[in-house]
Amino acid sequence: MTDPNTLEQLHLQTEECLKCALGESRTNLVFGHGNADADIVFIGEAPGFNEDKQGVPFVGAAGKLLTELLAGIGMDREDVYIANVLKCRPPGNRDPLPEEVAACKPVLFEQLAIINPKVVVTLGAHATRTILGRDVSISKVHGTTFQVDGYTVFPIYHPAAALYARATKELLEEDFRALKEFLAADDPAAPAKRPAEATAGETAGEDSTQLGLF
Ligand code: URA
Repeated sequence: MTDPNTLEQLHLQTEECLKCALGESRTNLVFGHGNADADIVFIGEAPGFNEDKQGVPFVGAAGKLLTELLAGIGMDREDVYIANVLKCRPPGNRDPLPEEVAACKPVLFEQLAIINPKVVVTLGAHATRTILGRDVSISKVHGTTFQVDGYTVFPIYHPAAALYARATKELLEEDFRALKEFLAADDPAAPAKRPAEATAGETAGEDSTQLGLF
């Protein structure tokens, strides 16, 4: 198989994937959606019922919340790229199995290599662990940043976790406000950082930066 140069080529190469058992049960492979040239990529866990039916990520209730949160920081789904760790729906929306993540991860990493974003926003524990390559607790690392392979990784809570838990929704909204501030501080065209951000502080791990907002 030749190395794909574009998302379309990678999508075509992936379309018939049967590397794990989820390939047998899917209605549609959910490759990803949005701007192939995006500075920001959002990564979720796996397609759910609606995504499997439509072949598009985050089109159900969690997707509606994600779209609202994006709008809240002045962004549209088409401005960013949205994908999942798994491209096929696990039955009953169960957690991804390690062998499914192992089979699907190369496609995700290839997507990132093609898009070459500045920031990778991981939604929830599964996406965060997949991208960081180690076990972390989302409650500890959300709202902090990590440097991985030249990307800034910004873990936040998964929107699905916020659908029925008000406290988690508030944390997720806070994460989005922190993301907006981080993006503004990272944008050379943006106004200069406020002193509190410029000196943002504590480390949450050897390779992470706490934004000082939590
Ligand atoms: N949850 C995810 O992680 N991804 C989707 O596409 C939808 C719900």
